[in-house]
Amino acid sequence: MTIDVCPVTDTFAAEVGDVDLSQPLSDDDLAAIKQAFWRYSVLIFPDQHLSAGQHLDFARRFGPLETSIGAYRGPDAMRLDKELADVSNLSPDGKVWDRSSRQRMFQLGNRLWHTDSSFKHVPALASLLYGRSIAPIGGHTEFADCRAAHDALPAARQAELAGLIVEHSIFTSRAKLGFTDFSEHERSQMPPVLQRLVRCIPESHRRSLYLASHAGHIIDMDQQQGAALLAELIVHATQRQFVYTHRWRTNDLVMWDNRCTMHRGTAFDDLRWRRDVQRATISDVANSCEQPNELADAA
Ligand code: OGA
Ligand code: MN
Repeated sequence: MTIDVCPVTDTFAAEVGDVDLSQPLSDDDLAAIKQAFWRYSVLIFPDQHLSAGQHLDFARRFGPLETSIGAYRGPDAMRLDKELADVSNLSPDGKVWDRSSRQRMFQLGNRLWHTDSSFKHVPALASLLYGRSIAPIGGHTEFADCRAAHDALPAARQAELAGLIVEHSIFTSRAKLGFTDFSEHERSQMPPVLQRLVRCIPESHRRSLYLASHAGHIIDMDQQQGAALLAELIVHATQRQFVYTHRWRTNDLVMWDNRCTMHRGTAFDDLRWRRDVQRATISDVANSCEQPNELADAA
């Protein structure tokens, strides 16, 4: 049977049924999933029953896996394989974390609109988040369509933004929440990187804003002016008409294209409910400034 794609809107987010991701995929099914992914940017696969290995095997069909940064926890404190980012509220012993947990503070950063790993020189292409257990209320994940947000800007604005380069750093997003308690060693592990503000997505030939809470400074613009522009664009891109809110069911696998979407977690009672969500992350092919960009070529 071929997969069944049920779009949420005509161009953003779709549910995918009639596929069992624990089994090796046929080439036809993989091609159909990719086609849907380039079109909708967020895919939801309900009721999947995956081991960590099966989750990672499916993810690998889209490119090489990233390893989790883990810098703020240290290798001894990792609950999962190094290829899985632990987005849960659990400590290494599997219990709900404490109020004072450092991991809890760090993960609060996920509540700001962002795209994964834009603070890495080679950022993430896709993320695949699997919900093993979820909170009964709250803990939704919201996604913003940054292609639609780009399309909605006036042409003159699009032209102004086209060539801009932005500095991203994990410490920029954490500082927004007042979390600045990092060692020099931690800081030196993740120096700031440059990314394009407007990307052209090769598979869909659509332009997209590449924004994140990690973005702090626009090159060749004064600090305050750049920060104000980034804040304004994030507000623009996350207006209700560009946003899909995912309400989790146990065993949902949700995958998104980090090149052209932002996402954020929403609040839940994290000292009460277990929320065990685990993320496999696929690397992009290169830094965004090093990729061909039709916008730059056409200019
Ligand atoms: C992520 C993330 C938000 C959430 O997994 O990259 O930002 O709702 N998750 O868990
Ligand atoms: Mn994220």
